[in-house]
Amino acid sequence: MKRIVITRKLPAEAIAALQDNYQVSMWDSEEASAPREWIIEQSKEADALLTMLSDKIDAELLQGASKLKVVANLAVGFDNIDIQEATERGVAVCNTPDVLTETTADLTFALLMGTARRIGEAAQFVKEGKWKSWSPLLLAGGDIYGKTIGIYGMGSIGEAVARRAKGFNMEILYHNRSRKKEAENQLGASYVEFEELLSSSDFIVCLAPLTPETKGAFNADAFSKMKSSAYFINAARGPIVDEDALLKALEEGEIAGAGLDVFTHEPISQDHPLLSLPNVLALPHIGSSSVETRMTMMELCVENIANVLDGKNPKTLVNKEWMK
Ligand code: GLV
Ligand code: GLV
Repeated sequence: MKRIVITRKLPAEAIAALQDNYQVSMWDSEEASAPREWIIEQSKEADALLTMLSDKIDAELLQGASKLKVVANLAVGFDNIDIQEATERGVAVCNTPDVLTETTADLTFALLMGTARRIGEAAQFVKEGKWKSWSPLLLAGGDIYGKTIGIYGMGSIGEAVARRAKGFNMEILYHNRSRKKEAENQLGASYVEFEELLSSSDFIVCLAPLTPETKGAFNADAFSKMKSSAYFINAARGPIVDEDALLKALEEGEIAGAGLDVFTHEPISQDHPLLSLPNVLALPHIGSSSVETRMTMMELCVENIANVLDGKNPKTLVNKEWMK
C-alpha cells in the first residue's frame, strides 16, 4: 500500500478519501507542528507528502525520500520547497492556487481597513474598559475611500484586492514583473515603477511571492520613499520586508502604520518590538483562513496526491517540467 505522510493534524473528513486506499501517517498534535526530524524520518518511506507552508522541504529532506512522488503544499506559496531539487528527483510539487484567491483578498482588505481605522486598538480599548466618553478624535484613523492603493505583486490575489479597491473608489496603482493588461482595462489599474508605487500610494499592499528578486524589497530605502501618511500592508511573505527597517520607519514616523499577516519568523515572538507599537496590526498568517476555503484547500491537496499516485496529472502543479 502506498504511504502518505501528512505533517499536521487535519480534520478526518478532509482526508477520508485517502484513508480507504492508502496508508496514512498523520502528525497527531493539535497544538504543535511536526518537528523536522519527524518529517524527515517519515519521508524516507513516503510516496506522498501533504505539507504546510511552515515545513522546510529542502534538498536534504528530498534526498532521503527515495520513494517520494508528490508533495502537496497546503498553500498557494511554495517558497518552503526546493522546487529544483524536487523536479530533478521527479517529484511533482502541487500548491493550492485559485481556491483561496477571494478569501485571501478579503483578509488583505480587512487588514488594510483594520490598520487605517485602528480596529485592533479600538476593540481592545472597549474590552479593557477604557471607553469612558465619546470624544471627537477618539481613535481617529486614516481614510480609505478615494485614496490610492499601490499593489506590489499583481497576481490573482492582487487583482482580487484591486476589485475590492475599485468598490472603494480608490485609485489603483500596481507594480509587477509583467504588465497585466486585463487589470488595466477592467479595473483601471495603472502600472508604475517601484519608486512611483512607493511615493504615490496611500496604501502599499504586498502580495508578491517570495523569490530571490522580492526578498528584502521593502528595505530602509523603500520606506524612506513612502508618504508619512502611508500604511504598509503585507499579506504575502515576511522576508519580502526588512523588519528592522520597517520598525525604524514606524518608530520615526516615516510611515503611518503597518498591517502584517506574515513575518520573517513565524510565529513572531510576543516580545518582538514590532508588536509593542500601537500602529501595527498583527495577525497570525490567516490570509486564506475561512473554514470553507481551508477545507477546499485540503480537498485539493488530497486530490492532487491521489491523481499523482494513480498515474494521472495533478490539478495544480507547480513544476510543469515534471510532466515531461
Ligand atoms: C499562504 O500564505 C499561502 O501561501 O497560501
Ligand atoms: C458617529 O457615530 C456620529 O453620529 O457622528
